[in-house]
Amino acid sequence: PHLIFASLALGYLLGSIPFGLVITRMAGLGDIRKIGSGNIGTTNVLRTGRKSLAAATLLGDALKGTVAVLIAGYFFGPSAAMLAGLAAFLGHIFPVWLGFKGGKGVATYLGILLGLSWQAGIVFALSWILAAYLFRFSSLSALIASLISPVVLVLLGQMQLALVFALLTAFLWAKHHENIRRLLSGTESKIGSKAKTEA
Ligand code: G3P
Repeated sequence: PHLIFASLALGYLLGSIPFGLVITRMAGLGDIRKIGSGNIGTTNVLRTGRKSLAAATLLGDALKGTVAVLIAGYFFGPSAAMLAGLAAFLGHIFPVWLGFKGGKGVATYLGILLGLSWQAGIVFALSWILAAYLFRFSSLSALIASLISPVVLVLLGQMQLALVFALLTAFLWAKHHENIRRLLSGTESKIGSKAKTEA
């Protein structure tokens, strides 16, 4: 029971660090939640036109998931790693520090997946890149890549992980409900277009 609590707490605390918010504020851009889609993630940081800040956000939001999984795995074993990953994801999308209004989970999903099954992590990244190349929507790419991941895990024979990531995919889709609406109505912004209006 102590190990379970430690893994959950470690994952949640790391996952709830809002890198996009912190990095853009440190760069003097104000509150990223008042720009573009209002999201704290990489895609919205990119809308400020500052590519290096977007890259730093991606790295931070992904690596916090990887680090949570690797630390819990190293000290407490594989089940703890999975729990820490789940908690890190929930920490990112529901951070207590931001009134439980966090990000949409794409980068953190990738980071956790890389930590738990690097092969599936690479497939996630490649399918995101391919979908982004074909359709030019960040959100759609994430929706597609996150549908593929649980299937890849099943094919790799990692049934428990497949179930965990099916759950994370459901959360990721739920957090993208506004994007899904915009995609369906043809009003979603494409990758590379800068923010014009406030959220
Ligand atoms: O990184 C989240 C992405 O899938 C959508 O972000 O800002 O376009 O809502 P955004």
